[in-house]
Amino acid sequence: MRLQGVNAVITGASSGIGQAIASHFRREGARLLLTGRRPEPPESHPDDLYLAGDLDDERFVAELAARARGNLGDVGVVVLCHGLQRSGPLAETSYEAARDVLHTNLLSAFLVMKHLMPLAPERGASMVCVSSRLGMVGMPNQTLYSAAKGGLIALARGAAVEWADRGIRVNVVAPGLTMTPVIEASFQRRPDPAAYRRTREDSIPMRRLATPEEVADAVLFLASPESSYITGAVLPVDGGYTAF
Ligand SMILES: NC(=O)c1ccc[n+]([C@@H]2O[C@H](COP(=O)([O-])OP(=O)(O)OC[C@H]3O[C@@H](n4cnc5c(N)ncnc54)[C@H](OP(=O)(O)O)[C@@H]3O)[C@@H](O)[C@H]2O)c1
Repeated sequence: MRLQGVNAVITGASSGIGQAIASHFRREGARLLLTGRRPEPPESHPDDLYLAGDLDDERFVAELAARARGNLGDVGVVVLCHGLQRSGPLAETSYEAARDVLHTNLLSAFLVMKHLMPLAPERGASMVCVSSRLGMVGMPNQTLYSAAKGGLIALARGAAVEWADRGIRVNVVAPGLTMTPVIEASFQRRPDPAAYRRTREDSIPMRRLATPEEVADAVLFLASPESSYITGAVLPVDGGYTAF
């Protein structure tokens, strides 16, 4: 097992990609502290710990770190998978909406990194940030989300360099469109969901969406010792979208 004896904290673990990452890590022997905003996790696993709260609030992030210290001792892997997608024309975006997108996708990631870094074991640790293909390229109506996810990439690269001599690796997975409940719901809001899905698929060289499990495979690689000399890297999992 690739994460045997490792304590891992996963944010955004109550849904979609984060839920798939938790499942992969469980299979590979990690002890898990999961977090999301909903009061209960979507699946019950007796060995998992779950703490609900809002990562935009530094007091909650400090509480999460205190729980990790108390229950796990140290934290060898941190996955930052929480996120908020909002779309709309740039010139019509309110300051409050922009602040929410930047806060939930970027500033809260800074808070998680800041409070969990001191729990890294002496032998080192791995942090994996879940950004987006839109952190690397622009798309109409997604500009604030792009800015936040691009900022997350820069945050991870900076931390990778700053913490390299402490043995803490920091990497990024940049998913393309991935079939999670939030994406499924956005398709269902269209007048013709199947036609809209085909349009989105046609914009991707591999002509299909990712599964949450495919994104989780990449996160697992970057979390595990198999990537021991990789830090500050961005791994697209996007069916060729950003190579096009
Ligand atoms: N799906 C895609 O196509 C896609 C593509 C590229 C990148 N991504 C990124 O991948 C990550 C996961 O996406 P997903 O599709 O799995 O999304 P999702 O199903 O909407 O899950 C988002 C997760 O983040 C949590 N969360 C949101 N805001 C939070 C906050 N302020 N504090 C604490 N937790 C918060 C949610 O908790 P609750 O549900 O409990 O509120 C949930 O667990 C996100 O960072 C997203 O930006 C997704």
